[in-house]
Amino acid sequence: MRSQEWFGRTGKDGFIYRAWMKNQGFPHHEFEGKPVIGICNTWSELTPCNAHFRELAEAVKRGVWEAGGFPLEFPVMSLGECQIKPTAMLFRNLASMDVEESIRGNSIDGVILLCGCDKTTPSLVMGACSVDIPTLVVSGGPMLAGRFQGKKIGTSDLWRFAEEYKMGNMSQAEFIAAEAAMARSQGHCAVMGTASTMAAMVESLGLALPDNATIPAADSRRKVLAHMTGVRAVELVREGVTPSKILTRQAFENAIMVNAALGGSTNFILHLTAIAGRIGVDLSLDDFDTLSAKIPMLTNLQPSGEHFVEDLFYAGGLPAVIRELLPLLHRDALTVNGKTLGENCADARCYDPAVIGTLENPVKPDSGIAVLRGNLCPNGAVLKPSAATPALMQHTGRAVVFENIDDYKARIDDPNLDVDPDCVLVLKNVGPRGYPGMPEVGNMTLPAKILAQGVHDMVRISDGRMSGTGFGTVVLHVSPESAVGGNLAFVQNGDLITLDVPNRSLHLHVSDEELALRLAKFTPLELGYDRGYVNLFIRHVTQAHEGVDFDFLRGGSGSVVKRDSH
Ligand code: FES
Ligand code: MG
Repeated sequence: MRSQEWFGRTGKDGFIYRAWMKNQGFPHHEFEGKPVIGICNTWSELTPCNAHFRELAEAVKRGVWEAGGFPLEFPVMSLGECQIKPTAMLFRNLASMDVEESIRGNSIDGVILLCGCDKTTPSLVMGACSVDIPTLVVSGGPMLAGRFQGKKIGTSDLWRFAEEYKMGNMSQAEFIAAEAAMARSQGHCAVMGTASTMAAMVESLGLALPDNATIPAADSRRKVLAHMTGVRAVELVREGVTPSKILTRQAFENAIMVNAALGGSTNFILHLTAIAGRIGVDLSLDDFDTLSAKIPMLTNLQPSGEHFVEDLFYAGGLPAVIRELLPLLHRDALTVNGKTLGENCADARCYDPAVIGTLENPVKPDSGIAVLRGNLCPNGAVLKPSAATPALMQHTGRAVVFENIDDYKARIDDPNLDVDPDCVLVLKNVGPRGYPGMPEVGNMTLPAKILAQGVHDMVRISDGRMSGTGFGTVVLHVSPESAVGGNLAFVQNGDLITLDVPNRSLHLHVSDEELALRLAKFTPLELGYDRGYVNLFIRHVTQAHEGVDFDFLRGGSGSVVKRDSH
């Protein structure tokens, strides 16, 4: 056992490694070779989606004790999507460094990652991959669907409420009532937003037990899953199964195809690419398009459809979706319970065809994520067809340009803004370096005067991200971003732009000669972060198509620490 390099020592070092641990009341035999299972906890009252994790950790511990292991819980940086400014994405890599060093530096043989709110999953998985000791994930589970004015609601309704409020159709009092009605139980967002996309990602990658993705947070079976994950962690350590044995190229391909069938978040691309970079699997932006091209949308979940993640659980959960997709997946991919992906869903059944369709009769023919290319995005941009308007999938319009988020906020509702529903809204400087941190502002709310015409979608283009709960004909992740001199920086008001999703292209109708002239006049943005973490971030962050990880964090450093602390 790795932990014996701490607890199994004689003399002064062993004394130091054990003695202070004993102040927690552990008898000496706990230190004599039991598998030590770290429980990496993102509990925080500032991450409300993970606020029930102390209870969840207790269930994990019961399982670890039962299986003869020794559980030790530790906290890591927790990123609350809706609290932390300027965007949780700015700190995903920081949290991953915390996780990596906490795992490597401590006396643990295996680790269970407690993940919930959006960034808490990729940051923990990225960090764990760079160490590569046996790792399992327990997600916190989705909230119960909210209820407001007689209707079920979830996070995606926020975007509709915001429009209604802007139009004066919803009062501030109704807003406040809707807030409480939406977030009425523990758990993360109740729709197939980024948190549930990430929970499904870890399940389809094979890093979590079956049903991890969908059991509601408030359902007692979530604790059973946590308990069983604790049991399994001890066995996984004994078997020596590390993430690099689970996270093969095939596992990544499975995750991409399952995500397509779910209509999962566009953030999936950034996080999965970063995870692949840590574990050393080659994954390109084009893989997401190629692999999801043959996958229809199998589930009818918000924001692309109607239902909630809770409903997916009642309909059979992710195993029922995976079983339907199995002819297209790598069924022999190994998962952390020791069985293959195919074996795990052998008995799964669909109990509600309104929520889970079939390959013959899918919910929508198009799924997944379209990867666009063209002079506006030589290194790619992405769009989620299932959340877009079919009539806008081939569209040419004149650009209405916002130089940055402040410019957008200042002018979007100006009655004199020269805009009509056929225009293309372009937002610059919201990329990884430009903002910095690539915030979720890509699905910018339409101008008030356009909304007043009853129009709810326009083509929007930016180098930023979109909330997994968002929707619309929104082109995101333009790479290279405008702040580093990508062509997005040179778009001017009135330029024509053609979006052609069937042909996967995004074209700015400006000649190469004219673009060269505009480039000659371009001065890179003065970012102005001279110290601290943000300075590190802007110097080392990679572009969207590379996963927005730091260049120096790619790969791993293993689990060995050669020197002692005294
Ligand atoms: Fe935490 Fe949506 S805000 S999951
Ligand atoms: Mg989000």
